[in-house]
Amino acid sequence: MKITIEEQNRLETIYQAFLNDEKILRMKDISMHRGSNCYLHSFKVAKKAIKKSLNRKDVNLEVVLLGAILHDYYLYDWRKDRSKLKKHAKNHPNIAIENAVKDFNISEEVKKVIKSHMWPLNIKDYPKSKEAKIVSISDKAVTIGESLTSKKYKQKKLDKYLSYISHLF
Ligand SMILES: [Fe+2]
Ligand SMILES: [Fe+2]
Repeated sequence: MKITIEEQNRLETIYQAFLNDEKILRMKDISMHRGSNCYLHSFKVAKKAIKKSLNRKDVNLEVVLLGAILHDYYLYDWRKDRSKLKKHAKNHPNIAIENAVKDFNISEEVKKVIKSHMWPLNIKDYPKSKEAKIVSISDKAVTIGESLTSKKYKQKKLDKYLSYISHLF
């Protein structure tokens, strides 16, 4: 899919607005796979998902972008709150949707992307749209990469990761 420079600039502007939004910055406090945090993880997924979308036809890039940035917008640390641990995998997409609706008034299409990102773990929530499939696959690829990198290495490279996510394109 060819993307015009205007569309590229439009998406970059949206990306930057989220990157610097104080509500979104709260995701930095939520730890994730081996020394990563929810903020880094979500923007890595967004970059990967947009890259994948450019190889596909008829994908709504804005839906991919918002769905990816907000797919883990659940805003609690299940590592600190053991009561949430058991049902985290099942519940966090719905919690992320509730928070995203409240804070950013997202569309039905974006909600679907968030809802199904945990498939096949949440077996009933199959990602039906192209956008949902792309975000779900990108989330898994980023998660695997994060899980294979040691915590020590990740902390050393934090600045490199922050610079990597500082731009969409
Ligand atoms: Fe998730
Ligand atoms: Fe994720």
